[in-house]
Order: sequence, then C-alpha cells, then structure tokens
Amino acid sequence: NEIRIFCPATIANVSCGFDVLGLALDSVGDEMVVRKTTEKGIKITKLTGQDLPTETLQNVAGVAGLALLAESDHVGGFEIEIYKKIKAGSGIGSSAASSTGAVWAMNQLLGSPFTNLELVKFAMEGERLASGVAHADNVAPALLGGFTLVRSYQPLDIVKIPTPPELYATVIHPQIEVRTSDSRRILKTSISLEDGIKQWGNVGGLIAGLFTNDYDLIGRSLVDHIIEPIRSILIPGFDKVKEEALGAGALGCGISGSGPSIFALSKGKKTALVVAEAMRKVYEKIGVDYDVHVSKI
Ligand code: HSE
Repeated sequence: NEIRIFCPATIANVSCGFDVLGLALDSVGDEMVVRKTTEKGIKITKLTGQDLPTETLQNVAGVAGLALLAESDHVGGFEIEIYKKIKAGSGIGSSAASSTGAVWAMNQLLGSPFTNLELVKFAMEGERLASGVAHADNVAPALLGGFTLVRSYQPLDIVKIPTPPELYATVIHPQIEVRTSDSRRILKTSISLEDGIKQWGNVGGLIAGLFTNDYDLIGRSLVDHIIEPIRSILIPGFDKVKEEALGAGALGCGISGSGPSIFALSKGKKTALVVAEAMRKVYEKIGVDYDVHVSKI
C-alpha cells in the first residue's frame, strides 16, 4: 500500500524542439513516498527541500493526483510525501518530477489501470498549474525515461526515442529562479517561414541522429534559432558558458527548458566532466553561484 520512487529531472526542448522534445536525467531527481488511504482525496503530508505549497490544489502533485482520481474507481485516496532535490524554477522539470511521480506511483498502487498516455495527461494538469500551459515535454520523459517526442498535442501522441549508449548531459544551474510563465510571456507568438525551415530541419536531424547513434549529426542539430536568442538574455553569462562548453568538446549546448539552467550533451562521461569544468570556470570567473551535474540520459 506504499511505494517509494525516484522522480527524474528532465531537460525540455533540447534546443530545437520547443514544447515537443525532452529527455530524462538518470541521476538527478526527487524522491516521493505515496500511500493508499481509505480517506478520500489527496493529501501532501510532507514536503522537504523546497519552500512549496502543500495545499492539494496549490501543489502540482496534488492537482495531477486529483486528475487521476477523478477518472479512477478507487473509493479512497492517497497521501504523498515529497523530498525535493530539484530546485523550483531551475529549468530541469521540478514540477514535472512531482506531478509525474504522483500519478505513476498512484497507478502502481491501483494495479496499473491507466496507460502511460493517460498518465501523461494527468501529469500535464500539474504543468498547467505550474506554468499556465499544460505542456508535456517534461512529463513525458519523466514518465517514460530517455528521450521523448510529443508528436501532437491534440490528440496527444507521444513517441519514445532511443538514447545512444554514450550520450551524457551536463547541466549547470546559475542560482537564480526563472518562472516558466515569465519566460514564456516574452516569446513571440509567430515565427518566419525561414526560421521554421531551419528548426524542423534540426528536429529531424536530431531524431535521426538519436536513432542511428550519429553523434556528429546530434551535435549539428542541437541548434535553436527561435527561442534561445530571446530567452538567453535572462541567463547570466549564457553565451560564454555555451562557447566554453563547445570548446571543451560538447556536441551541443543550449537552454534547459525555460532556463536558467544550461545543458550540454557530450559523447562519453569523460567529455561531459570536462565540459562541466569548463562551464563551472565561467561562473567562477564572473562570480555567479551555481551547481553543476553530469548525468547519463
Ligand atoms: N517547453 C517548456 C518551455 C518547458 O520551454 O516553456 C518548460 O520547462
């Protein structure tokens, strides 16, 4: 009647795939304990590590859990304990980890009545609460692991993409908080055909590279002509961090989700660690507090 789970951090967008591409980190994430109760509804009984609301309707795990309960024939409810390690507003899917963790664990405790696609839909309600938009590019990889593509939102169509064996992510988080809702508000609502052509060429290239373990193609495709130029102004030292990461051998580098975290993908753990060091040095030099992680995908 109780389950303890790891809820992975995720990198959404992966440069060229705004709102459609995402990947899960193997070794960065939260923990949750979810318990089946006879009492109706969802209760967040414990939340450590971050200053976040525990009222069910104010908490992403609570809201996602209620979405599942509304479709379930379970007469009781659930208690949830959340041990946050992912910082809210850091750009590595803090809200997605909690909403996905809640619905995945609840589904397990109920004997798996729901499909993964249904679980993604419930978890998206948590994202709606967190950012105002029910985007799925963090919750899909948090649920399925590895890389995922949201091929369509209406109807929802999620595709799992294979991960090349030697692909590692380096993520550096300058210690400022950027709310996803704010970093979405500054975006333009339309793009030129010219930018569209570049972007969908890169999305196709990235997917092809992931399927064929073509690391150079992956690197060439990790480009974003649309979102990065606008959002990068919110991130201290972005251009320099990117330049140093690429100079240290990263295949590509960009904004993780809505920022401020910056991610780089590398072939091999050794290179990912060298990239981490290069990124770290930039923030040491300009005096920005940070934390940095290397993780398998
Ligand atoms: N695709 C979303 C955005 C991800 O970039 O706004 C938020 O983590």
